[in-house]
Amino acid sequence: MSKYVAKKPDKNGYVKFTEEENQIWKILYARQFDVIQNRACDEFISGLKTLNMPVDRVPQCEEISEVLRATTGWSVKPVNAIIPLEEFYSLLANKQFPAATFIRLREDLDYLQEPDIFHEFFGHCPMLTNQAYANFIQWYGENALVTDKKTQSILGRLFWFTIEFGLLKTTDGLRIYGGGILSSYQETLYALESAAPKRLEFDLATVLKTPYRYDQIQNAYFLLNNLDELFHLKYKPILTVVDEIMGGSEGNDFNVC
Ligand SMILES: [Fe+2]
Repeated sequence: MSKYVAKKPDKNGYVKFTEEENQIWKILYARQFDVIQNRACDEFISGLKTLNMPVDRVPQCEEISEVLRATTGWSVKPVNAIIPLEEFYSLLANKQFPAATFIRLREDLDYLQEPDIFHEFFGHCPMLTNQAYANFIQWYGENALVTDKKTQSILGRLFWFTIEFGLLKTTDGLRIYGGGILSSYQETLYALESAAPKRLEFDLATVLKTPYRYDQIQNAYFLLNNLDELFHLKYKPILTVVDEIMGGSEGNDFNVC
């Protein structure tokens, strides 16, 4: 259950945000824009520039969709604060990224468990201008949609350790591409600079066997060599791989972000 309720778009798809909500966006955007410099990967920085989001008010879904359609053919879809997994997978399979149309309260500025519109727009949408990333999410949705709950739960780990909390090795050092990190001030610093978490080479079998917690900062991150590695996963018979390596594992309760 969430204490937040998504705002309903009007018949033209317009969502009205209050002055306080626009102020919260402004604070979050400014703070996050500053901290991601030299920490986010080049693809994210480039996507952020391409999106050219307003900095002083919450953007409308259609503003973001216009750019995504022109770059990778994706769009964002306004949804409720919490949606069923089947709806989530189905949207991804159809190149629609769900965006819950509410923004966190000032008291939750630093952390909230459920994904709000700042997380979706700022954390994920810049990367959705990247074709390898966009293809991977679509492929993920298509596969998750046609399998059973246990396998979905295990596949959730792949989503978690890439799309939400993935790190990238670059010639300039580690950079972030995961939206769960890039929409969090604290975790943007922690993921790269703290000595506490493990930073492991990306290995599909290891990722699928690694449980995670969605209610606390991560204790492990997986490193890709480049974003095309996500694209190449597309050619693996993922559900067969999950079957082979997981045996009797119970997976993770997958919290949609
Ligand atoms: Fe997310």
